[in-house]
Amino acid sequence: MKKIPLIIDCDPGKDDALCIMLLGASEKYDVRGITAVHGNVPLEKTAANALFLSSYYGINCPVYRGAEAAILVRPERASYVHGENGLAGYEYSLDGLEYAEGHAWDFQYETAKACAGELEIVAVGPLTNLAITILKHPDFAGLVKRLVVMGGGATAGNTSPLAEFNFQQDPHAAEIVLQAGFKDLTIVDLDCCYSAWLNREEQQIMAELPETNKIHGLIRQIMEHKKISDENIIRKHGKNHGGDRINHMIICDATAAAIAIDPTLAQYWDVYMVCETEGELTMGQAIIDRLGFARKTNVHLAMNMDRDRYAALFMEGLKHYEEVSGND
Ligand code: BDR
Ligand code: CA
Repeated sequence: MKKIPLIIDCDPGKDDALCIMLLGASEKYDVRGITAVHGNVPLEKTAANALFLSSYYGINCPVYRGAEAAILVRPERASYVHGENGLAGYEYSLDGLEYAEGHAWDFQYETAKACAGELEIVAVGPLTNLAITILKHPDFAGLVKRLVVMGGGATAGNTSPLAEFNFQQDPHAAEIVLQAGFKDLTIVDLDCCYSAWLNREEQQIMAELPETNKIHGLIRQIMEHKKISDENIIRKHGKNHGGDRINHMIICDATAAAIAIDPTLAQYWDVYMVCETEGELTMGQAIIDRLGFARKTNVHLAMNMDRDRYAALFMEGLKHYEEVSGND
């Protein structure tokens, strides 16, 4: 099967790390590059994490640095969720690894052009890089086959009552992306993410990944760190935040990866969505035109994940990194 060229735009981030893990394991995609953006932690750290992850998963693709800040708003980082380094405190070395020369936005555009309508993008951080690409290269959106974005919350937010982190961190960028005219823009919002979780048994398997699995170190550390981040989230936002934190593990960016790999894991609602860029209480809210006032649609809003099939795909992804031993 001919692999589909893919760019991952991300702000690693624990869940970004698991998103890249799944996409790197997929038979469907040829990961042409990773573009890092500011977000969960500052760019300096998200880019370093992306560079490390590309090598750790054996993807070994070019890694580009992107935007350090949002277009207008001031950032609020999420180290209380992801740890100071953004990767649950996992320590690594970048010896022998180098960033690709150039800007994330030019790489995105040049790759889209070179792929002649075949490129897919999975974007799981604030959308600043993509917004810059769109503004700098007006024909960009028309060159992309499919864009899958983790962002927005149809019912509620996670960093304010109505705003989800990725949209809130750069609402103007989110709005530019929503209005850019992508042919196939799939939004994986919080409601969709909350419909896909890993249960306690699946979490246990992750926590006890054998040493023969070459990514066991990072995964174990992420599982260890979950207890700390759950407590931090509950302290900051309240106990009902993000569903059942005791029994469920929600991995937002991995949900987006799973939907990119297998679109049949979700159902879709074609709607018109805008991102609020002005409201005092609603800044960053994903507003859905439920009744169809706009008389047009711009997104496929993913919803109602098939939890069991999602979990199976996730566990398969982990197995991909199992090192084959013996002489066969
Ligand atoms: C999103 O916010 C970030 O903290 C995660 O990496 C994910 O992309 C969820 O709202
Ligand atoms: Ca992210």
